[in-house]
Amino acid sequence: MQAPSFLAEHAVSVEQYCKQILEQKRAHVPARLLDAMLYSLLAGGKRVRPALVLACYQACGGKDLDAAMPAAASIECMHTYSLIHDDLPCMDDDDLRRGNPTCHKQFDEETAVLAADALQAFSFELLADLDVDADLRVVLVKDMALAAGMQGMVGGQMMDILAENQNIDNVLDVERIHLHKTGELLRWSCEAGAKLAGANTQQFEACSRFGKAVGLLFQIADDILDTTASSEMLGKSAGKDEAQNKATYVSVLGVTKARELANEMCEIALNACESLQGTAGKQLQDLAVYILKRGQ
Ligand code: IPE
Ligand code: IPE
Ligand code: MG
Ligand code: MG
Ligand code: MG
Repeated sequence: MQAPSFLAEHAVSVEQYCKQILEQKRAHVPARLLDAMLYSLLAGGKRVRPALVLACYQACGGKDLDAAMPAAASIECMHTYSLIHDDLPCMDDDDLRRGNPTCHKQFDEETAVLAADALQAFSFELLADLDVDADLRVVLVKDMALAAGMQGMVGGQMMDILAENQNIDNVLDVERIHLHKTGELLRWSCEAGAKLAGANTQQFEACSRFGKAVGLLFQIADDILDTTASSEMLGKSAGKDEAQNKATYVSVLGVTKARELANEMCEIALNACESLQGTAGKQLQDLAVYILKRGQ
């Protein structure tokens, strides 16, 4: 499935922005640390989360993409930190990420842990520097803390680890893990875009419902791809979930049912953003379909 062209366009702007702003720090940061951060951040990646920030921003009437760019970069830094930690030997123990050796393989474990830590802190720095009303800055920082931390992604990663080898057979248990470990950062992306645009209640609710549906859809597709795609296609090791006895939509439902559920989630996402008019509303629909089709 060909990615929508705006995804690639946003990806270029986000990467340029991240590179430029991190390089400005070079004089003040140990070179090895900054190199590891840039290595993982710029290694490739679909940049779905920043695209969601920017598309929701535009779908709610936001006009100045540059003003939303630090928030788009912020979520990509948070996400990249989560990937570096996810790949560590004590977590999923992966050698390949974004088509390249994982951070701890390219550098070493100490550097990988610290590069991820620094990306997490930098993510908050970017939000704190947003050129918007101070109240909104605080809201976005707090929302990010909730989405990324113990009640969000990190909590979900803990659930994911605890569920290994437990022969989980209840789909609601898997849903809970996925909504946390993956869904929360995608939901943040959509809600942050809406808030930055000054969305009204109806627009915000549409983005929020869209983000929640797409968040779950994204991880269902990831679970399917882990069993159906090759490592070359994914740029990360395929077949890991079964090897590590993870609780996934495929382990609980099988591929066919997981695909049906992905279709249902996509429908929910498409319905949620129906009320968002214009090109950016259409972009959100295209993104949801792209995420679905990757897993079909
Ligand atoms: C991988 O995320 C981790 C999950 C939450 C499934 P992505 O599939 O967005 O990875 P990149 O950013 O494109 O490398
Ligand atoms: C990772 O889920 C979710 C994160 C918080 C990074 P996975 O462990 O399935 O992600 P991949 O398949 O390694 O990218
Ligand atoms: Mg994992
Ligand atoms: Mg993993
Ligand atoms: Mg996976």
